[in-house]
Amino acid sequence: MPASFTPAAIHLAPMEGVVDPLTRELLTEVGGIGQCVTEFVRVTDLTYPRKVFKRFAPELEHDGELKGKTLSGIPTFVQLLGSDHEALAANARKAAKMGAQGIDLNFGCPAKTVNRHNGGACLLQWPEELYGIVNAVRKNVPEDVPVTAKMRLGYHDKSLAIENAQALESGGAAWVTVHARTKLEAYRPPAHWEWLARLRESLNVPVVANGEMWTVADWRECKAVSGCDHFMFGRGAIACPDLPRQVAAEMRGETVEPMAWEEVLDLVSRYFLTSLPNVAKPHYAVSRLKQWLRQLPRTYPQAEQLFAEVRKEREPEQVLTILAQYKGGSEAIYKIA
Ligand SMILES: Cc1cc2nc3c(=O)[nH]c(=O)nc-3n(C[C@H](O)[C@H](O)[C@H](O)COP(=O)(O)O)c2cc1C
Repeated sequence: MPASFTPAAIHLAPMEGVVDPLTRELLTEVGGIGQCVTEFVRVTDLTYPRKVFKRFAPELEHDGELKGKTLSGIPTFVQLLGSDHEALAANARKAAKMGAQGIDLNFGCPAKTVNRHNGGACLLQWPEELYGIVNAVRKNVPEDVPVTAKMRLGYHDKSLAIENAQALESGGAAWVTVHARTKLEAYRPPAHWEWLARLRESLNVPVVANGEMWTVADWRECKAVSGCDHFMFGRGAIACPDLPRQVAAEMRGETVEPMAWEEVLDLVSRYFLTSLPNVAKPHYAVSRLKQWLRQLPRTYPQAEQLFAEVRKEREPEQVLTILAQYKGGSEAIYKIA
């Protein structure tokens, strides 16, 4: 008898190059998030050594109750992307053995390099392939570890959306997260939340709604249109780090004070100072900080100027000087880390 799994109400989206392990730590500390997913691990025909999984999910190295969870206790799923059934199954088994709280399969990535090798969104053209992949992975992962899938509404169009979602369910997906756009629609608004309702009505497993929720008002509308009870925030949680906390409060019938700009500044400064000594090359930390700052002006107009100044820089020292100016001096900035 397969185990039944319930998704958390609020998920932090996997975002390659943006939501790295440190971002997961910081955002789950802010609160509201009940579930995380790693950036995708691209699988070809190899079974990766343990160090690869540890790099994508340092949560796997935590001890005891926190095994596979962020330090705030939030479960992290390892996301795999690829099309080789056996290799995906072998990597999934390995990640599960190392303590992954679940395995998520990526059927949404629009990147050309990935699609050219039959990974990500291009698989949405072949529902039987989706079934085969999920089924192979499900059979190779212990029963108490959920296998889930993340899809878009289609590749060129939405004609296979329901068939694809049903194939994922039949293959054994415990739930299906749906980014409510096709591959062709890329990231262009709107997201088609009405399609989430159609998929929800066609499946017996839960649908996690994803796409284009930037504010609590967007979430309310997505909930009303889709009828979903589970949500995933991507860019919205970067642009507004306490959006999940605000939504979680509203789900409980409460309200919380939105995060002040000063707190956001502390958060991104902490991100930068903590990541700097831990990345292979310092400019990685600079470029990831830029990714974060790029989104913030949507919520915090004050971030516009900060981003404009940081985006011109490549060297960490210059970025630190800018952050320190915004924080009111270099002492203030070093106190944060
Ligand atoms: C920079 C970037 C990287 C992404 N990387 C991944 C990924 O690794 N795996 C995945 O399933 N989706 C990935 N996505 C898609 C997001 O998880 C999400 O589905 C999409 O951004 C729509 O949600 P949003 O409007 O809340 O951002 C990525 C999106 C962006 C913008």
